Amino acid sequence: MTSSYGLRGRAAVVTGGTRGIGRAVAEQLAQAGALVCVTARDADEVRRTAAELGGVGAVGSVADPDHLRAVVDLTLREFGRIDVVVNNAATNLPYGPLMDVDPLSWRESFTVNVEAPLRLVQCAWRAWMRDHGGAVVNICTEGATHVGPHIGAYGTSKAALLHLTQQLAGELAPKVRVNSVSPGLVRTEMARFVWEPREEEAAAGLPLGRLGEPDDIARAVVWLASEEARWVTGADLLVDGGTRVRAAFGSQAYAVHEGLRAHRPT
Ligand SMILES: NC(=O)c1ccc[n+]([C@@H]2O[C@H](COP(=O)([O-])OP(=O)(O)OC[C@H]3O[C@@H](n4cnc5c(N)ncnc54)[C@H](OP(=O)(O)O)[C@@H]3O)[C@@H](O)[C@H]2O)c1
Repeated sequence: MTSSYGLRGRAAVVTGGTRGIGRAVAEQLAQAGALVCVTARDADEVRRTAAELGGVGAVGSVADPDHLRAVVDLTLREFGRIDVVVNNAATNLPYGPLMDVDPLSWRESFTVNVEAPLRLVQCAWRAWMRDHGGAVVNICTEGATHVGPHIGAYGTSKAALLHLTQQLAGELAPKVRVNSVSPGLVRTEMARFVWEPREEEAAAGLPLGRLGEPDDIARAVVWLASEEARWVTGADLLVDGGTRVRAAFGSQAYAVHEGLRAHRPT
């Protein structure tokens, strides 16, 4: 990624920017000339990443509203502006059937995955974006629009994030564009327990023949954050290697269509 995409000199916050998708986003933003503030809970990783990217870092959990205010204060203090917010940090901890989910971890998943993105945007809006404009990109998931085993809490919170994205896009226009990116299965730590035990099989089942890499998602995020997407708001960009269309081409679908063909009127 070498194009500056109009991001040179712009300031960006990437939550969860020390590894996986967030790290790739922060890296590509920095390559495009943006000034980057990364956040995460592990202080060593935050320091290391900020140094490697020539940016700044804030240590804390996005679940803590004081931390989110501090992130915006730091970005403004260091860079004098805050043009881009990428809400990337998330949790999928209440993994399992909804009947077993305890109220604390259910609340935690909504605090981290939905409330934190809203609070961070509120802080950035009041401090800078209301007057100067900007772009927000929320990292959602391909699974936000359909149900599946064990991901009830995560999926419900990400569906709320999808809704929040469109709501904010309506409320913050025309000053601020708000979009989301919905990744399919990406080879990161968070999803390791899903992809590692069956990587080849999962990759072979995808139309594009491989699992996602953090860079694949980051390209879409940077595009949405950039001037290239200046007339795009309220959109969800699916970056999933064809995961969603696979369902339409599964063996069940072929069986149905074979049946239809057999009965096609002549
Ligand atoms: N990987 C996939 O297949 C996939 C698919 C669809 C959607 N997504 C979404 O993509 C985003 C990134 O996921 P990933 O797979 O890249 O995860 P990852 O590799 O586990 O990285 C997560 C990042 O977020 C930070 N983080 C986690 N909880 C945090 C919190 N409460 N406060 C602040 N920082 C926190 C982590 O650092 P610390 O642990 O040091 O805080 C790390 O920097 C998430 O929104 C996820 O839902 C991922």
